[in-house]
Amino acid sequence: MATMKAIRIHQFGGPEQLELETIERPVADVGEMLVRVEAAGVNPVDGKTREGKFPPIPAGKLPITPGRDIYGEVVASCDAANGFEIGDKLYAMLDLFHGGYAEYAVVSSAEAARPPERLSPTEAAAVPLAALTAWQGLFIHGELKAGQTVLIHGGSGGVGHFAVQFAHAKGARVTTTVSGADVDFALSLGAERAIDYQNEKFEGTGPYDLVLDLVGGETQARSWSVLKPGGALISTLTEPSPERAAELRARARRYMTEPSGSQLAEIADLIDDGKVIVAVDTIFELRQARRAQEYQETGHPRGKIVLQIGE
Ligand SMILES: NC(=O)c1ccc[n+]([C@@H]2O[C@H](COP(=O)([O-])OP(=O)(O)OC[C@H]3O[C@@H](n4cnc5c(N)ncnc54)[C@H](OP(=O)(O)O)[C@@H]3O)[C@@H](O)[C@H]2O)c1
Repeated sequence: MATMKAIRIHQFGGPEQLELETIERPVADVGEMLVRVEAAGVNPVDGKTREGKFPPIPAGKLPITPGRDIYGEVVASCDAANGFEIGDKLYAMLDLFHGGYAEYAVVSSAEAARPPERLSPTEAAAVPLAALTAWQGLFIHGELKAGQTVLIHGGSGGVGHFAVQFAHAKGARVTTTVSGADVDFALSLGAERAIDYQNEKFEGTGPYDLVLDLVGGETQARSWSVLKPGGALISTLTEPSPERAAELRARARRYMTEPSGSQLAEIADLIDDGKVIVAVDTIFELRQARRAQEYQETGHPRGKIVLQIGE
């Protein structure tokens, strides 16, 4: 039996539930590839899944390996027509049950794309889920167009630092809310204005065609006052009030990010064109997955956290 090292969760709870184990190596099915993982992204959702909160997983499905982002090399393929060959590199956002915190992972062809050439493996692994979230929030749900105005809450986090750059690259005018220490960083990414959310109010700015809410709660509730009538309030976290949306004739929704190889290919082009940088805050080893998730939850990272796997 071929084996691999992987992080697994046997019961929901804190970071102490993350165990490094030697388990059976997965096998690719039809339409899938087996990838030797070189780096895996860490996202806030990994901790929420570990806690059994979101997305909800029936306890009967445990143990699972966490991790939704990978960069690695194709070592086996059960899809002759997907354009990937053994030895090719790829990056991908995985579904919930194909964990990336492992030496090998199974990837469906539709989830994968060729990685940006100018990125290191750890930088490439930092991209998929966060960048797809920014892309889908701005352009699919938010329908952002060149020349429009957008307010991005949380613009120096994993998702936010991509969102600021994508919106700027599209020709939109970007305002973002960040911690005071990240104001200059957000401006360097292309924001016209960066508001220190701990010391300044965003009320009185705008009005905006789109608010991309990566914070939720009270921040979202306060955002109606800066939205243009007929604008859009799109959130990764909290379902916006339908009553407030109706008052403003606004489009408002909470969305779930979907894997997409074709969108990752467009994102790779933007990165290779030099229009988007990837901010990696800290790199941990696979065996340090507990520390990586603790840091994600408490360390106020700027940009992304990544696990380096193998040599
Ligand atoms: N629905 C989905 O499919 C989906 C997909 C991806 C992400 N998400 C969720 O979206 C959220 C953002 O994800 P992420 O990966 O970007 O998380 P992250 O890397 O932790 O970034 C969150 C950012 O928000 C900032 N922030 C905190 N409170 C704020 C406030 N009141 N105003 C403005 N900014 C504030 C933080 O700054 P400081 O740390 O400096 O305070 C941090 O930079 C997470 O909760 C995540 O779970 C949902």
